[in-house]
Amino acid sequence: MGLALCPAPHLGYVIAGRMVIVMADGTEHRYGAGDAITVDPPHDAYVEGDEVYVGIDVAPAPFGMSTSATSVLDAIGKTPLVELRRVVPAGCARVVVKVEGTNPTGSMKDRFALTAIDGAERSGVLRPGGTVVEYTGGSTGTSLALVCAARGYPIQIVTSDAFSKEKRDHMRALGADLILEPSDHLQITEDLVRRMIARAGGIARDEGAWWVDQLNNHDGVHGYEAMGDETWAQSGGRVDGFVQSVGTAHSFHGAVVALRRHNAGIHTVAVEPAESPVLSEGRTGGHRIEGIGIGFVPPLWDPADATEIATVRSDDAHAMARRLSREEGLFAGASSGANVVAAIRLAERLGPGATVATVLCDSGVKYLSTEVFDS
Ligand SMILES: Cc1ncc(COP(=O)(O)O)c(C=O)c1O
Repeated sequence: MGLALCPAPHLGYVIAGRMVIVMADGTEHRYGAGDAITVDPPHDAYVEGDEVYVGIDVAPAPFGMSTSATSVLDAIGKTPLVELRRVVPAGCARVVVKVEGTNPTGSMKDRFALTAIDGAERSGVLRPGGTVVEYTGGSTGTSLALVCAARGYPIQIVTSDAFSKEKRDHMRALGADLILEPSDHLQITEDLVRRMIARAGGIARDEGAWWVDQLNNHDGVHGYEAMGDETWAQSGGRVDGFVQSVGTAHSFHGAVVALRRHNAGIHTVAVEPAESPVLSEGRTGGHRIEGIGIGFVPPLWDPADATEIATVRSDDAHAMARRLSREEGLFAGASSGANVVAAIRLAERLGPGATVATVLCDSGVKYLSTEVFDS
């Protein structure tokens, strides 16, 4: 019996009958009752010697396991969504967090790195064996170093002592060459970010390398649209508010674009450091929330993405990161703490029955030696 071309993937076990799957490339796979089955579309399927019925148990694999991966890059995304139980006061909306620390380098930036490098390969600006150059506080650099290691590209990274030692060590471990710009007393300032950018651009020019140029790289947004879609699906189709801190604005923009496709009226809150309220007040200053608040308006920032902008003090972001760790068992960095502070403020306003989603951008492991966790 031939069945119509099926558009859906199947993951599960054949529970009755014998079945032949013919993949799009013409390869045949034969399965019997009890066999595990993983089939991507498009495929054709028919039942051997049984005209009538084959059952496929399509329940998810145990413990939410995904299918086996052919590359570490297949492990990017599909992160868990977890409801906060203790740090959210009574009378608030439900607050759910996307745990991006489960990505291979422990950061949502893996999504950016993969889609940025995919885009460069597609457009031909990055060719096999070509060198990649970028400036970074460390998370983006670590993610780029991972993708470059997996795809065989050398990578040079401009970074600074203002960002955690763990990130520098992690980038080196993944094979990156580091060039350090000194900071002013470990503060993240506009001057530091601008010096790092100029140096990376200069190296790329001199060496004929491909400069990722994250602030102007539009390909990086697509990985975050997936993050928005995942959040919507995992929440059970109920997200009334979305909160995310802004560095390059990739993740806020991508997730908001996706979530608005599901709920056009969603509250969207962009978060920035209170010490450097560039988006809300046009003022800049030194702060201590790694990854966000670059000291000037990022080119990808679109004010129409945000229904409001929240500011959070560095100390409050750090304190919430520690509470998340101790009270929820969710080990994440300072920007994640800032996100949860702002998400709780929105949850207080929206009240019970609503759902506010935010992002735990990365793992606290990246900050063990910093003031956030090194008490
Ligand atoms: C830890 C952390 N949180 C938040 C952000 C902000 O993300 P985006 O650059 O997508 O605005 C970054 C960006 O580097 C980051 O490293």
